[in-house]
Amino acid sequence: MSLLPRLGVNVDHVATVRQARHAPYPDPVLAASLAELGGAAQITVHLREDRRHIQDRDLKLLRKTVQTKLNLEMAATPEMLRVAFETRPDTVTLVPERRQEVTTEGGLDVIGQKDALKRLVAELKQAEIHVSLFVDPNVEQVQMAARIGADAIELHTGRFCEARTRDVRAEELRRIVDVAKTAVKLKLACCAGHGIHYDNVADLASILEIEELNIGHSIVARAIFVGMERAVREMNELARAARQQAVLAAQR
Ligand code: PXP
Repeated sequence: MSLLPRLGVNVDHVATVRQARHAPYPDPVLAASLAELGGAAQITVHLREDRRHIQDRDLKLLRKTVQTKLNLEMAATPEMLRVAFETRPDTVTLVPERRQEVTTEGGLDVIGQKDALKRLVAELKQAEIHVSLFVDPNVEQVQMAARIGADAIELHTGRFCEARTRDVRAEELRRIVDVAKTAVKLKLACCAGHGIHYDNVADLASILEIEELNIGHSIVARAIFVGMERAVREMNELARAARQQAVLAAQR
């Protein structure tokens, strides 16, 4: 159980705006510093094969400037493995990647790719990089993540966040709670991310097993209007308040 959830801020979409004009600004490196000033405990970026937002230059600079932790989301490919060895982020989060997708649409099939992923996890851990696997909230996938030696899992919260009815929302939340408990029993650190917004962060931050939330789109979108520091601070306050209430409730 962690008393405060760590907030990882994903700055990919600052780079998306920059790449829309192939301009030198806005700079995700500056955004990352401001996010840290606002209370981010980690900066997350996804270096995609097509380089549609974050560029190699960003990653190199972030490695030098990030004061908290740097989490690199990447596909399990030889090219990205080389980038990880060169950059040495604190954490690598392995994600599935499809060129046509707007954003990461689902979790890794850890069961289907267990042999290849096991090798990759071992190589990254040997380089002293903490390895997390982005998975759907599915017990079997999480069990396999533990079996192949991952340090952590990040639960894909997209279905919960996008649920249109109260019943589906409740069912998806129950699924996340159950799988988070399984992960912790298997000694995996449990993180969560995708689609988290100011309106739904409290439900996820209340799950004591979840120690880290990775949030991008909603924070960057809000930062356009209120600034990065404040957008991060507001998200952190909501997450922390919800966690504190959940901790108190658990002690009663
Ligand atoms: N975690 C992972 C593994 C992701 O791929 C993404 C999207 O890049 C996020 C978290 C952040 O999702 P969102 O931008 O919807 O907050």
